[in-house]
Amino acid sequence: MAGMSPFTYLAHLLAVAATVLILVWSTHYRGGLALNSTNKSLIFNVHPVLMLIGIIVIGGEATMSYRSLPGSRDARKRVHLMLHGLALALGAVGIYAVFKFHDDSKIPNMYSLHSWVGLGTFCLYGIQWILGFVTFFFPGASVSARQSIIPWHAILGLFIYILAIGNAQLGFLEKLTFLQLLNKLDRYGSEALLVNFTALLVLFLGAAVVLSTVNFKANRLESQKSIAL
Ligand code: HEM
Ligand code: HEM
Repeated sequence: MAGMSPFTYLAHLLAVAATVLILVWSTHYRGGLALNSTNKSLIFNVHPVLMLIGIIVIGGEATMSYRSLPGSRDARKRVHLMLHGLALALGAVGIYAVFKFHDDSKIPNMYSLHSWVGLGTFCLYGIQWILGFVTFFFPGASVSARQSIIPWHAILGLFIYILAIGNAQLGFLEKLTFLQLLNKLDRYGSEALLVNFTALLVLFLGAAVVLSTVNFKANRLESQKSIAL
């Protein structure tokens, strides 16, 4: 396990905790999950659950997998590619769910900052996947082109991930504000605390994922330097 960082363990832990909390929120407090229901809020609930489990949790694991997993470079590349693909697929269903919720409830689409940054982030994630696929997997660019693209791929990938973390914060805030304005929950009640705490864990998870890659890069640069010298 070359280059396993303590931040990677922390990220796994935070990922599990955030997943548990969002499931408790959507099922225990908000009635559960469904893609088809006369109770439209169940359709909405699919959105935060799949965005969090997909883009944030599995996307984070995908990013860390390249450096933290054992095995050959080729095997780790396949895991990285497949986990990012799974994150995208779950994210697509999550976005479909919120559009369906809006259409079924006659609520307009794409009116909020969260929706604009969200759709933008999701498109960037898709483009990053396609570009990563054609550069590093199939058909694959020349070795020198790969070498110059790798730092761009890594920094843009982290940028997109950080955007997703920030946008999830906007989403939690927006949903909680809607519920508070509709007098559906107590500002200091257990549900409000649960939602804010889940958002905080998501923020810490984002930090742990980013820090675990920074650590590994430092290791890599040092080992590259020692080879060059
Ligand atoms: C990276 C993660 C996320 C992305 C990419 C994302 C993306 C989107 C998009 C594109 C919409 C617009 C749908 C439409 O106009 O019909 C939307 C709506 C919404 N999302 Fe998210 N979302 C994310 C996470 C979350 C989270 C964690 C919550 C927490 C509850 C949330 C709450 C909402 C709410 C309340 C709406 C409806 C109001 C609105 O359109 O702004 N989202 N999201
Ligand atoms: C949305 C999809 C993707 C995102 C967000 C993403 C993100 C990242 C990030 C942040 C890193 C740096 C990790 C680190 O330094 O620890 C990385 C490395 C890498 N990714 Fe991706 N990636 C995506 C898709 C892909 C795909 C489809 C491939 C194709 C196989 C790929 C190939 C690679 C390679 C080869 C590296 C290693 C670069 C190195 O040697 O340092 N990525 N990716």
